[in-house]
Amino acid sequence: MSDTANPAVIRRADYAAPAFLVDSVALEFDLAPERTVVKNTMRLRRNPDATPGSRLELMGEALAFIGAAIDGKALAAGAVRAHEHGLSIGDVPDAFELVIESTCNPVENTTLSGLYVSSGNFFTQCEAEGFRRITYFFDRPDVMATYTVTLRADKSAYPVLLSNGNLVEEGELADGRHFAKWEDPFKKPCYLFALVAGKLVALEERIRSRSGKDKLLQVWVEPHDLDKTRHAMDSLIHSIHWDEERFGLELDLDRFMIVAVSDFNMGAMENKGLNIFNTKYVLANPETATDTDFSNVEAVVGHEYFHNWTGNRVTCRDWFQLSLKEGLTVFRDQEFSSDMQGGATDETARAVKRIEDVRVLRQMQFAEDAGPMAHPVRPESYVEINNFYTMTVYEKGAEVVRMYQTLFGREGFRRGMDLYFKRHDGQAVTCDDFRHAMADANGRDLAQFERWYSQAGTPRVSVRTAYDAATQRYSITLAQSYGDAAPAARETQTGPLLIPFAIGLIGRDGKDIALRLEGERSETGTTRVIELTEPEQTFTFVDIKEAPLPSLLRNFSAPVIVEYDYTNDELAFLLAHDSDPFNRWEAGQRLATRELLALAARAAAGESLSLDDSFVAAFARVLTDESLSPAFRELAMMLPSEAYLAEQMEQADPAAVHAARQFARKRLATALKNEWLAIYERHVTPGAYEPTPQAAGQRALKNLALAYLAELDDPADAVRLANAQYDSANNMTDRAAALAALLAASATAGAGVAEPALDQFYRRFEKEPLVIDKWFALQATQRGSAKHRVIDVVRRLMAHPAFTLRNPNRARSLIFSFCAANPAQFHAVDGSGYAYWAEQVVALDSLNPQVAARLARSLELWRRYTPALGDQMRAALERVAAQVKSRDVREIVEKALA
Ligand code: PHE
Ligand code: ZN
Repeated sequence: MSDTANPAVIRRADYAAPAFLVDSVALEFDLAPERTVVKNTMRLRRNPDATPGSRLELMGEALAFIGAAIDGKALAAGAVRAHEHGLSIGDVPDAFELVIESTCNPVENTTLSGLYVSSGNFFTQCEAEGFRRITYFFDRPDVMATYTVTLRADKSAYPVLLSNGNLVEEGELADGRHFAKWEDPFKKPCYLFALVAGKLVALEERIRSRSGKDKLLQVWVEPHDLDKTRHAMDSLIHSIHWDEERFGLELDLDRFMIVAVSDFNMGAMENKGLNIFNTKYVLANPETATDTDFSNVEAVVGHEYFHNWTGNRVTCRDWFQLSLKEGLTVFRDQEFSSDMQGGATDETARAVKRIEDVRVLRQMQFAEDAGPMAHPVRPESYVEINNFYTMTVYEKGAEVVRMYQTLFGREGFRRGMDLYFKRHDGQAVTCDDFRHAMADANGRDLAQFERWYSQAGTPRVSVRTAYDAATQRYSITLAQSYGDAAPAARETQTGPLLIPFAIGLIGRDGKDIALRLEGERSETGTTRVIELTEPEQTFTFVDIKEAPLPSLLRNFSAPVIVEYDYTNDELAFLLAHDSDPFNRWEAGQRLATRELLALAARAAAGESLSLDDSFVAAFARVLTDESLSPAFRELAMMLPSEAYLAEQMEQADPAAVHAARQFARKRLATALKNEWLAIYERHVTPGAYEPTPQAAGQRALKNLALAYLAELDDPADAVRLANAQYDSANNMTDRAAALAALLAASATAGAGVAEPALDQFYRRFEKEPLVIDKWFALQATQRGSAKHRVIDVVRRLMAHPAFTLRNPNRARSLIFSFCAANPAQFHAVDGSGYAYWAEQVVALDSLNPQVAARLARSLELWRRYTPALGDQMRAALERVAAQVKSRDVREIVEKALA
């Protein structure tokens, strides 16, 4: 499809500097739920770098215009025109003061973009283009200004009034109203503007920054949630210290605030000095949050805090550069979490975080790159920018940033970061600017590296090896290609990439061999980062005394697919011996993927299934290897997900994948029953709950044991243990895992085994929305059968009094859990899942297009499925395409059908 004629498409190539610059913005809000009045006073001047035009065009959306004045003179009706997309003002001077008054309706705003009401309080969300729903403005990130914000509201209904920066004045007004005035000393793009008003309370801490300045930290929540703020506060303090230590970056404001809101489209938002968070990523205490929740809170608090430098102090020139801030900040939060896991020195602990991140990347981003939404890390075009907050921009973007560190080491990476801030502090810049800083700080030409930003699709590196015993030489030939990429990816591909490829060689004794490349004087360690720059290159290691086993792409040094024909025995050997913990895990995953795909093919053909003893033995060795941390063993024993496996098939067949994976799980459960029971007993952690990585690892392994035991033909042990665990749990990790095990066991033992706990769980946590989300999600992701269709459960839950489409977390907990995380049930051959999906996309489309568009993506890979499913998926997409109105959903379904 060519979109050159489509005016709705925004292109990177069309970037033009803004016609005007805004030096300062003073906003005054008279807050009222149905009609908030906004007075916006700006100092404007013509941009000398822009092509001159006479009219002033400001963006605005869902606003009611009241009036405007230039340099104190009200504009006549003919001089200004308010329209659907903004405000157009005739001849304006070169520099002037512009005052605009308008109103908006926060309580009717279900999009959660702009100013809206949630639980009776006011919040804003401006990224990417929500500021134009608050006032008329140049709503683009390269227009940076200083902001002064005055908030006025009824004092009893809205006792707390917050905005960016420092509080400079507050006081009483007539009629029970009050006001607060905030000043943000730093220039910022409008997408970082925020205000919050309502009945909130804060946990406060005072800390001293490295250079000795006092800082006030606050975590604002609704009063009943104050008991769930400690972990977010601790995470914030850790983040602040980590950024000082690792990157020399200090908090630049006297005050830093986090606010929790339960209606939020995304995870959280880095508004300057006033981060606004989805409650899911702030609130945590042992009773209500799992270990995963605790680590997500830490990661997201870190992420938003790190944006203060990578995003806010240096921001994006345009939205095509989104990965400049997101890829970099994800990389920073990954490194932060990794350091918090076990310190920078414990490689196995660091590997746990790395494995989790790579698993997400490969399951989600690789799939995105193989479908109709494939786009480069720096996209070339979009219809709706909200659709480009993607796995590619975030996760692949983080991998691209990580490769600089792999190439230059931590010190070299730090030099690049220092130069980046030295050059660009206070500016709105591009991905090229970042790459140039990295290149210049390290004396390298990184022209070829630019392709990582401009080419979509997942690169493949195929590996051939040869050992010559006579000359003791071992050569490795690496060839890069994109395989048969999706059309959307193919059109971006222009040439070979610079791929940092980390490699080790392992001897027969299981130990690493010291490495020396041909032409080098001496050995340099046991892991070597080879730089692949050509379509094909051969690297030769010398003094290799015996035929080694290669350990390829250690620590996943580049976001590529490695093709190499290991034998099963070789994979089992790597699983037992590789010194690189990532690759140790990877060997197990490769082994499992191979076996599971073979099983799936047999299942699809209606043949009987069997699994070799050697497969079980290889996993048994890892499970019982006490030298490995519980957290690592848990990851190693977890089979590749159904979504990942389906993605590896020529034609995805979710039912066959499910049958294969269930068969393998049952086999591992049965063959290792005694080991699982022993592991379970051994890793019960008595005493008070602690969210430390060590304790979390113990719980994870113990609960995996419980999950495997629930797979047995006779799950009586699992049911007994799970009930006892449910009743005695002092934390949500164990309680939710027990409930999940009971639900799993009910597949063989009947629904009766889970119902009492399910009901008890609901009653116990009725007042905790985030826990009720788990209750919905557990049921939507449960295993089903012909007799017990999960779609029936889901439809019944849609009518539950606690269900609502308006709250994104709740919608995700039921609808997305079913459509995106229960593939075998969602892809039922009768099409019942697709019919449900279509209904929900259409229903959400008119309420909240951003959330609807995310859901719409569940069917985009329809071409990759067996025709029996693919045809029905396409039909459902067509039905949706005929009904939806938002630009957001239309872009997704039209690209999927193109
Ligand atoms: N910028 C936010 C983050 O990554 C994500 C976000 C995008 C939130 C758009 C809201 C709206 O941290
Ligand atoms: Zn971010």
